[in-house]
Amino acid sequence: MKFRPLFLSLLVLVFVWSVASQESGFTYNGFQGVSLTLEGISQITPNGLLMLTNQSRQQQGHAFYPFPLQFKNPSDGNVVSFSTTFVFAIISQYPDLSGHGIAFVISPSRGLPGALPSQYLGLFGESTVGRSTNHCFAVELDTIQSKEFFDIDNNHVGIDINDLKSFRSAPASYSMDHSGGRWQNLSLISGKQMQVWVEYNGLNTQINVTLAPFNVPKPDISLLSVSYNLSEIMLDTMYVGFSSSTGSVLTSHYVLGWSFELNGPAKALTLSQLPKLPRVGPKQQSKILTIGLPIIVPVSVSIAVLGIIFIVRRKRKFAELVEDWELDYGPHRFKFKDLYIATNGFRDTELLGIGGFGRVYRGILPSSRIEVAVKRVSHDSRQGMKEFVAEIVSIGRMRQRNLVRLLGYCRRKGELLLVYDFMPNGSLDKFLFNQPMCTLNWSQRFRIIKGVASGLLYLHEEWEQTVVHRDIKSSNVLLDSEMNGRLGDFGLAKLYDHGTDPQTTHVVGTVGYLAPELIRTRKATPCSDVFAFGAFMLEVACGRRPIEPQGSAEDLILVDWVFSCWSKGAILETVDPNLGSTTGYVVEEMDLVLKLGLLCSHTLPSARPTMRQVVRFLAGDAPLPDLSSPLGLGVSGLLGEGFDDFATSYPFPLDKTFTQSSIAESLLSTGR
Ligand SMILES: *[C@@H]1O[C@H](CO)[C@@H](O)[C@H](O)[C@H]1NC(C)=O
Ligand SMILES: *[C@@H]1O[C@H](CO)[C@@H](O)[C@H](O)[C@H]1NC(C)=O
Ligand SMILES: *[C@@H]1O[C@H](CO)[C@@H](O)[C@H](O)[C@H]1NC(C)=O
Ligand SMILES: *[C@@H]1O[C@H](CO)[C@@H](O)[C@H](O)[C@H]1NC(C)=O
Repeated sequence: MKFRPLFLSLLVLVFVWSVASQESGFTYNGFQGVSLTLEGISQITPNGLLMLTNQSRQQQGHAFYPFPLQFKNPSDGNVVSFSTTFVFAIISQYPDLSGHGIAFVISPSRGLPGALPSQYLGLFGESTVGRSTNHCFAVELDTIQSKEFFDIDNNHVGIDINDLKSFRSAPASYSMDHSGGRWQNLSLISGKQMQVWVEYNGLNTQINVTLAPFNVPKPDISLLSVSYNLSEIMLDTMYVGFSSSTGSVLTSHYVLGWSFELNGPAKALTLSQLPKLPRVGPKQQSKILTIGLPIIVPVSVSIAVLGIIFIVRRKRKFAELVEDWELDYGPHRFKFKDLYIATNGFRDTELLGIGGFGRVYRGILPSSRIEVAVKRVSHDSRQGMKEFVAEIVSIGRMRQRNLVRLLGYCRRKGELLLVYDFMPNGSLDKFLFNQPMCTLNWSQRFRIIKGVASGLLYLHEEWEQTVVHRDIKSSNVLLDSEMNGRLGDFGLAKLYDHGTDPQTTHVVGTVGYLAPELIRTRKATPCSDVFAFGAFMLEVACGRRPIEPQGSAEDLILVDWVFSCWSKGAILETVDPNLGSTTGYVVEEMDLVLKLGLLCSHTLPSARPTMRQVVRFLAGDAPLPDLSSPLGLGVSGLLGEGFDDFATSYPFPLDKTFTQSSIAESLLSTGR
C-alpha cells in the first residue's frame, strides 16, 4: 500500500529526469549504439567512431543530435549559456594536404539543405551562404585556404555566423602559458586526435573556442574569445551537430566523442573510453612470419612481379621528356608526377577551362601547397621547341603585376605543361558576357584596361627583349583576387607559329582581334598587338565581342559600329547597357577609352599609337590626337579593306581558329 505513491513518485522522478537530461545535454564517449541523424556519407563505424566523411572526393557528411534543444529562455527570449566539447581527427591521403574540414554547427533543422561540399564545408550552398535567414552558428576547423571566403590560412579555427567568411578566425594553436605569450601550432591534418571546447556565456554574450592536443587538459586561454549576441541569429529551438566535407583529396573526418550541455559546462569526456582510430600505414608484419615459409616464397615472388609491373607502369605513367639542352633550366622544370598529384590526376573536377591551346587545371603543388593553374598543351612537332622553352624560361623570370606569372614547365612526349600562378577570379570574358553573373562597374573596368595596357607595355618595351603577345583578348585577361587584370598566355602563340613553308604558315590569333596587315604579312609585331588591344578596349567598354555573329549587318563588327556612332557624334550609344545610364561611368574616361580603341584599330599600322603612348593617354598624361585629322580615323573605308585583301589572296585553310569560325566565313563571303 505504502510503496505505491513512492513508486509513482519515483516514476515521475525518472520521467522528469529523463526529459531534463534530454533537454539540457548529453555525453557520448564514442557513438556505439547512439542514435544520431546522419546525412550524406556520414556513418557510425562498428567500433563507435563517428565518421563524417570517408575516403572519397567532393562529398559531405552531416550528423545531428536528433532532438531539438531549447536555446532561448522563454521568459526573456535570450539565448542561454551553453558549452560543448569534442575530440576529432582528420586523416588524409597525403601527409601535407587535406580537404576540407569539420564544423560544429547549430542549425534550425536536423540537416543542412542545399549545402555543398569542398570549400562550403557542407554548411551552406552558393545561394545561401551569407544569408541572415540561415540562423546558423558554426565553429569551423578548416584545412584549405579559400580565397573567396577570405580564409587566413590552410589550418585555422573560425567562428562562422550564417556565413563562411568567418566572423573571427585564428591559426590552429594552443597556449598553456598564462601570460599568453607562447602559442604552439597544431596541424589539424596531422591525423592526431585533438579536442575542442566551444562555450557561450548568455549573460555577456561571450563565445570562447579552445583547442588542445589529445590528453592535454583544457587550456585556460582560449584560441578565440569574441563577443557576439547569438540571440540575434538563433531561433527558440535549434539542433546541434557536425558537418564535414571533402574536396579533391581523399580525407576521412572523425569525431570520437562529444559532450554538450545547456546552462552549464559540458561534462568532461572520458578519454580512455573513446574508440580507436583506424590504423594508418602498412599492416603489422609479424603475422606474416607466423605463416609458413612455403606460403611466403611464392607470395613474395608474385608480389615482386606485381611490384615490378607496378613500377614499370608508374614509370610510363609519369614519363617525361628531358633533353640535354634543358639541364640548365632545372629550377623551372616541374616533375610530371608532382603536377599529376597536384591536379588529382588531371581530373575533370579540377578543370578550370578549355582554351585555344589546351585544357587548364587547378592544382595544389604537393610540397609547397601553392595553388597553381596547369595548362596542358599538345604539340605534334619538336620544331622550335628548344627556342620556345628558352623563351618560356626567360618569360618565367618576368615579374610584373599585370602579367600572370609563369612558374615553370614540364615536357612529355607530344605534350607541354605550363604552370602558372592561380588566378581565383578566372577570366574577364566571363564577367563581360555571362550576364548576369556579375557585372563589373566602370572603375573596375577602367582599372583592368589600364593594368593590361601596362602589362603589354612591359612586354613590348620594358623587358630585356621585345615580346609580342599575339593573342590579346578578354578571355586571356585573368583577374586576381583584387580584381586586377593580368595578361596570360603570352608567347604561347609562337609555338604554333614556327612553320617554315609560307604556304602553310599559320596565322595565329582570334578573328576580330587580328590586324589586317597580319593576315597579309603573317608577321606579328607590337603594332598588331596594339590593334588587338584596341578591339579589347572596345569589348570592355561596350560589353560586346569584337564580332557579334547575331548582329545585324551594321553592327556585326564592333569597331565599325563604334566608328559609325562616333561619326554621327553619338559614340556613347555604344556603351555597355549593363553599366546603366551616364551615372554608371565617368563620361570623360569612357569617351577616351572608346576613341583610343578606334585609334588602336586603325588599319594602317603606322597610324596606331605605341603601347607607351596608350598608357600615357589612359593616365591622362597626354591628350588624345584629333581623330578626324588625316592621321586619325578619317579613312574609315580602310577598316574593311584588309579583310577583302585577305579573302582574295589567301584561300582557306589558313589556321584552325579561322577555318573553324563560321563567323570568319560569313564575314568574308559578305565581302566586307
Ligand atoms: C564512402 O561512403 C559511401 C556512402 O556510404 C560509400 O558508397 C563509399 O563506397 C565509401 N567509400 C569508401 C572508400 O569507403
Ligand atoms: C605558427 O603558425 C603561424 C601561422 O601559420 C606562423 O606564422 C608561425 O610562425 C608558426 N609558429 C611556429 C612556432 O611554428
Ligand atoms: C572566455 O575566456 C575569457 C578569457 O580567456 C574568460 O574570462 C571567460 O570566462 C571565458 N568565458 C567562458 C564562457 O568560458
Ligand atoms: C541580445 O539581443 C537580444 C535581442 O536582440 C536583446 O534582448 C539582449 O538584450 C541582447 N543581450 C545583450 C547582452 O546585449
